[in-house]
Amino acid sequence: MQHPVLAANWKMNHGPTEAREFMRRYLTLSPRRNDRTVMFFPSDLAFSAAAEACRDRSDLLLGVQNIHWEDKGAFTGESSAAMARDAGARVVLVGHSERRHVFGETDAMQAKKCAAATRAGLTPVLCVGELLPQREAGQAEAVVLEQLTLGLAELSTASVASMLIAYEPVWAIGTGKTATPADASAMHAVIRTHLRGLLGEKALAVPILYGGSVSKGTAASLLAAEHVDGLLVGGASLDAEGWSSIVAT
Ligand code: 13P
Repeated sequence: MQHPVLAANWKMNHGPTEAREFMRRYLTLSPRRNDRTVMFFPSDLAFSAAAEACRDRSDLLLGVQNIHWEDKGAFTGESSAAMARDAGARVVLVGHSERRHVFGETDAMQAKKCAAATRAGLTPVLCVGELLPQREAGQAEAVVLEQLTLGLAELSTASVASMLIAYEPVWAIGTGKTATPADASAMHAVIRTHLRGLLGEKALAVPILYGGSVSKGTAASLLAAEHVDGLLVGGASLDAEGWSSIVAT
């Protein structure tokens, strides 16, 4: 069993001042551990402040929440994968449900972003997950498999083997309704089987994270579920004490 991955997605929370303060507290609460991987996804504007604040902690990985798929150009408001890498990012969220459902991004865009990330030396975390009506209609697996197939379409198998997948059922994000460990485990098994078809046994090394209303109270049971290799946490990652206790799970 590989080390669990604990990833904090701050979304549009914590500007530079709050990011610095968070890191100051977090570093005193959470000593370096080599039995887990901890990632932070601050906003682009807080990225440098967060990176600077934890520059002595090479065990912490910083990532960005989004990239554009082009390397440069007239794309007002966007940042490229190469810029994120230059700023010190090692990982990037691709296809987060808020990008898909609030900003209307398509699977084809996710495929281009995954490809751009790997070209620039960033590790993509491809996020997939169904809406509530899709789950209720029995379409959850089909939706997730389609997002995976289309999102990974432009990657070599070597790139897929070194990335991460996050299963975030949209109905569980920010709603306080966590999927049960059994629900998460069942979908993670579907994702693993799909990866096995692409990668064979190497699929076992691709971390599959669960996200959606994870809290201090649910983290341990979700992490114990089969095929759940880590957690992608929004709201419960915003205060340093709470996040430290999830990291210590
Ligand atoms: P919450 O933990 O706030 O539900 O957010 C989950 C998420 O979207 C992480 O990427």
